Amino acid sequence: MTYSKQRILILDFGSQYTQLIARRIRECGVYSEIRPFNHPLGDLEAQQILGVVLSGGPASVYGSDAPRVERAVLEAGVPVLGICYGLQLITHLMGGHVVPGDRREYGRAEIEVLEQADLLHGLGVDELERVWMSHGDRIERLPEGFVPLARSRNSPIAAFRDASHRIFGVQFHPEVSHTEHGELLLRNFLFRICHASADWTMGSFIDEQIEHIRERVGGSNVVLALSGGVDSTVVAALLARAIGHQLHPIFVDNGLLRAGEGGRVASVIREQLELDLTVIDATERFMIALDGVVEPEQKRKIIGREFVDVFQEEAHRIQNVAFLAQGTLYPDVIESVSFKGPSATIKTHHNVGGLPEHLKLTLIEPLRELFKDEVRRLGVALGLPDSVVYRQPFPGPGLAVRILGEVTMARVRLLQAADQIVQEEVLAAGLERSLWQSFAVLLPIRTVGVMGDERTYDNVAAIRAVHSTDGMTADWARLPYELLERMSSRMTNEVPGISRVVYDISSKPPSTIEWE
Ligand code: XMP
Repeated sequence: MTYSKQRILILDFGSQYTQLIARRIRECGVYSEIRPFNHPLGDLEAQQILGVVLSGGPASVYGSDAPRVERAVLEAGVPVLGICYGLQLITHLMGGHVVPGDRREYGRAEIEVLEQADLLHGLGVDELERVWMSHGDRIERLPEGFVPLARSRNSPIAAFRDASHRIFGVQFHPEVSHTEHGELLLRNFLFRICHASADWTMGSFIDEQIEHIRERVGGSNVVLALSGGVDSTVVAALLARAIGHQLHPIFVDNGLLRAGEGGRVASVIREQLELDLTVIDATERFMIALDGVVEPEQKRKIIGREFVDVFQEEAHRIQNVAFLAQGTLYPDVIESVSFKGPSATIKTHHNVGGLPEHLKLTLIEPLRELFKDEVRRLGVALGLPDSVVYRQPFPGPGLAVRILGEVTMARVRLLQAADQIVQEEVLAAGLERSLWQSFAVLLPIRTVGVMGDERTYDNVAAIRAVHSTDGMTADWARLPYELLERMSSRMTNEVPGISRVVYDISSKPPSTIEWE
């Protein structure tokens, strides 16, 4: 298959929207990559960089530690689009003047388009354009030869271009959905200005990644901590294609998985991806380490530490290992430090915290710039089954954070049985995909009940089902009463030890999705 290596380079100045810019560009069928603002650029054209986007960011261009790019980027002959801070930076670098605004402009705004060409072709034809603004500073004087393309009430220069129609800036954010014709503006930049072709697909991403991974890995071996979740399974599938048996996936069963989960993961990896999977049953070790522990953070720390130890022992058995593959996604990359440059610390993936440092291995993170739903599409393109691709997220510390209080084997079994009923019923109701997560929680209290002629004094299970787009915020799902009823009656009938079921109607914030 032939594929394009042409790309748009996004230089990140720390905006919370940088990843969205990349995503929108990919949605237009053009590949884009995000790099820190101080990434060494080299010859842009030789790298087939068709255009450069300077992202927004929280800094002020006149601040002493303001992140900057070399003026050379603007003089390289490649089209440039500055967004928000990017626009101010262009102004500053090209000799214009940026001043602190009288008031911050934040949220919805309307702009009047002054020149319906190039970047703003097709925008503001009959009326004012609705856009999303987020800035404090404003342009007081444009650089020489630059002309305004749009204005808003608070920004006399809401967009501009240079004399050569190659350098553009917008004060608003075309990448957010609140900017009505943001996609059109980005398309104009990509296709009218950068002359990109819309030939990038998930298939080309796979091809590019395979080539890149092969080049990096050479003859070395790669270990992968497989959790069974979407991210690590997609990484396994991608690496299986790229390097086959040089990949050594290791699955640590901590005994805190959902019922039947370990077997399901192993069969996909072994049968479908035909990889040699190492499964380590470390249940006993985790149980001993968790003995008597009730504090949630302590549970997490212990589980993380045991995981690193077990994984490390196993990885050391494999010869010639130089790399550790991880399913880190864009949201795992800490946004607030990303603009500090190449040395910025990246959040260690919370399931495998500390692994890279311990193992002294180089990281391979092929999903670093993707969003969860893009990873799912990638999984589909790699031929993974829906049951894997659309699996709900599951926390690394597993059922330990859903068993409030002490974790014992008996309580794990009890929760697994109750949780399986939630899973089965949600699946039967066809709601598995529309819910972000649905599961059972075991409460550390007992309440009185009556079963037959007998008084019981048993456990309480809670059902949790939420809608969310990224796990950052969540709303409790309005599950049909009949569904809740079925779950409740099955749990109290089929799971000895559960005599009461409650439904969690808290949203996040102020609650969290998991109970611990
Ligand atoms: P909370 O409970 O913070 O969870 O609202 C947000 C999302 O993150 C998942 N979660 C974790 N995932 N390791 C993980 O891999 C963890 O330690 C962890 N804690 C919470 C949770 O399931 C939800 O999707």
